[in-house]
Amino acid sequence: MSDHSDWHILVIDDEKDILDVMSLTLKDYGYQVSTALDGVSGLEQCRKKLPQIVITDIRMPGMNGIQVLEAVKKLSANIEVIVCTAFAEMELAIQALQLDASDLITKPIGDQALQLSIGRAKQRYISRKKLQDYAKFLEKQAADQAQILHQDKMMSLGRLAASVVHEINNPLSGILNYIRLMSRILQKGPLKGDTPEKFKQYLELVETEIERCSQIVSNLLAFSRKSSPSFAPVHIHKLMDRCISLSRHKLELQNINLTSHIQQDLPSVEGDFNQLQQCVINLIFNAMDAMPNGGEININGSVDSEKPWLVIAVEDTGTGISEEDLPDIFEPFYTTKKEGYGVGLGLSTVYGIMEQHNGSVEVQSRSGVGTTFLLKLPI
Ligand SMILES: Nc1ncnc2c1ncn2[C@@H]1O[C@H](COP(=O)(O)OP(=O)(O)OP(=O)(O)O)[C@@H](O)[C@H]1O
Ligand SMILES: [Mg+2]
Repeated sequence: MSDHSDWHILVIDDEKDILDVMSLTLKDYGYQVSTALDGVSGLEQCRKKLPQIVITDIRMPGMNGIQVLEAVKKLSANIEVIVCTAFAEMELAIQALQLDASDLITKPIGDQALQLSIGRAKQRYISRKKLQDYAKFLEKQAADQAQILHQDKMMSLGRLAASVVHEINNPLSGILNYIRLMSRILQKGPLKGDTPEKFKQYLELVETEIERCSQIVSNLLAFSRKSSPSFAPVHIHKLMDRCISLSRHKLELQNINLTSHIQQDLPSVEGDFNQLQQCVINLIFNAMDAMPNGGEININGSVDSEKPWLVIAVEDTGTGISEEDLPDIFEPFYTTKKEGYGVGLGLSTVYGIMEQHNGSVEVQSRSGVGTTFLLKLPI
C-alpha cells in the first residue's frame, strides 16, 4: 500500500456512527484523520490543522455542507472538499460544483467510491500545487532576467561613460581655446580687417564641436534610459551607426580597427532599439577584451539567403574561446576575465534579449585565430 501519512483528511458528519466508520477506514488506509460533528467545529479544526482534504456531509443541523464548502474554500482555496449526500439532489450537486467542490459522492459510501474520490482530490491538490509552484518559478525567473538585464546595462554604461569622458574632453578643450582666443582679440579693441570673418569661422567651429558633444551625451542618455522594452521597426543602419559611434573612442584607445559592411537596403526588423544596441555593444566589448594588443573587428549585416533572417555578425581577430569554455559562455556570471574586468553578464544578456526577439545568437571560435558571434533576427 502506498504511503498516505502526509495526507490529512477532515471528516464532518452529524451522525456519529458514520463518522466513526469513516475515520477507522481512512486511518486504516494510513491517512491522518480528524473528525467533527458539525460545521462550526469542523471549520475550527480546519483552521487549526489545515488538512489537504475535507469530506463533509450536506444535510446537517446548523451549518450545512454547502456553507461548509464555501467557508473552507474561503479559508484556503487549495483545500479539496468532497461533499457527501444521501440523495442525488441535482440542485445541491450543481451548487457544490460551482463552489469548486472536488467531488460529490452519495451515501452510503462504498469503500471503492471513497478511495476513488480521495484519489481524485489528491491529484487535483497536487496538480494545483505544481501549477502554483511553476507560476512562482516563472515569476521569479522573469524578475531575475529583468534584474540581470538592468545590471548588465549599468555595467556597459559605466564602461561607455569612461570612454565618452575622453571623447568629450577633446572638443571641449578646443572650444575653450577658441573662446579664449576671441576674448583676447576683443580686449585689444574693436574688430578690424578680416577679424570679424575669422570670428565667424571660430564660432562655426565652436558650434560643430558643441553639437558633437551633445550628440555623444544624448546617445549615452538614450542608452541609459530605464525604459520598458518597446517593439518597433528597427533600422539596422541606424542601429549600427549608433553602436559604432558609441564605441569608436574606446576602439581607438585600444588600437583596434573596426570595419563594417552593412548590406544596402536591408529590411528593418521588429525589435527594441535600445536592447538590440545593448547586444551589439556587448559583442563589441567582448571582441575588444579579446584583443588587448589591438586587432580587427569586422561587422557584417546581411539577409540569410535561405531563411528570412537578418544576420548581424561581429567578427574579431582575438584570442578565441577554448572548447572547454564554449559550452558555458552564455551562462550568467560565467567569466574568464580577471576580477574587476568582467562580471559574466554580457552574453547571457544577449541570449535573453535574442530570445525575446524570437531570434538567436550563435558563436564560432578558434583558439588563437578569432571569434565570430552571429545575431539572427526574424524579418
Ligand atoms: N569575442 C570573444 N573572444 C574571446 N572570448 C570571448 C568573446 N566573447 C566572449 N568570450 C568569453 O565568454 C565569456 C563570457 O562573456 P560575457 O560577455 O558573458 O562576460 P564577460 O565579458 O566576461 O563579462 P561582462 O560582459 O559582464 O563584463 C568571457 O569571459 C570570455 O571568456
Ligand atoms: Mg562581456
